Amino acid sequence: MSTYVFDQAWQKERDRLTALESLYDGASRRLLDGLGLTTGWRCLEVGSGAGGIAIWLADRVGEAGHVLATDLDTRFLDVHGRANLEVRTHNIVSDPLDEAAFDLIHARAVVEHLADREQVVKRLATALRPGGWLLIEEVDFGGATAGMLAEYVSAPERQRLAMERIYVAVSNVFSAIGADPSYGRRLVGVLADAGLAHIAAELHAPVVTGGSEQWTRGSVEQLGQRIVATGDATAEDVKWFLAASGKADFHYLPPLMVSAWGQRDPHGS
Ligand SMILES: C[S@@+](CC[C@H](N)C(=O)[O-])C[C@H]1O[C@@H](n2cnc3c(N)ncnc32)[C@H](O)[C@@H]1O
Repeated sequence: MSTYVFDQAWQKERDRLTALESLYDGASRRLLDGLGLTTGWRCLEVGSGAGGIAIWLADRVGEAGHVLATDLDTRFLDVHGRANLEVRTHNIVSDPLDEAAFDLIHARAVVEHLADREQVVKRLATALRPGGWLLIEEVDFGGATAGMLAEYVSAPERQRLAMERIYVAVSNVFSAIGADPSYGRRLVGVLADAGLAHIAAELHAPVVTGGSEQWTRGSVEQLGQRIVATGDATAEDVKWFLAASGKADFHYLPPLMVSAWGQRDPHGS
């Protein structure tokens, strides 16, 4: 059974996914370049969503390279005729995955949704060639982070509390289905447990202006009824956030995106 919280058939899902790319692709690209990404590399983009990173990787590795973009549901990825970009409908938990095949594997906002997360990270580490890099980027908005994120809301105290209630409620929607809303903070340890070396991590946390991003907003809109059903936030809280987050004089902090990377031993088998 899939533990993915969001509905690919939701009418605004493509917009929600491209908004996620607008928010984080710049930071992801910088980190991917920093790992030495170059022409000829073989890359795996796991849970490629709307495909922004997969397409960018394909252009970076050139004709001599290859990018495999996988997703449970590939409906939003259009390769625009790129011969070096292969799209595969694939469940990263259970479908076959070649071992020692990739110079670079990237997954963003995917592993947090999987039930057997640590096992999947170990699978990804095994799919790296010796010397290959794994970059995983996952959110953190649960637990104590919910209150911290809400502190960045540019609104009176009572609205900060509404923001915190919404983050707590969404984190409980995640937890209830088996996803981890704080997986980002666990990544360094998870990569170490997967046997990778040269592990490092950083957080990406842009404070956004209302109306400029539709990822947090779209997520709250899509999950609206489920948020209220947790009992942690009210319908009024959701209505307030959807209205406020469309206004240019309102600022807030989306979930933290934690990026962590590690390398498979270049001299290993
Ligand atoms: C939140 S979206 C992130 C999309 C993209 N990685 C990005 O950051 O722009 C999560 C994606 O993971 C995919 N996904 C969820 N569970 C998966 C699984 N078990 N195997 C492969 N893909 C999965 C979803 O279909 C969705 O496209």
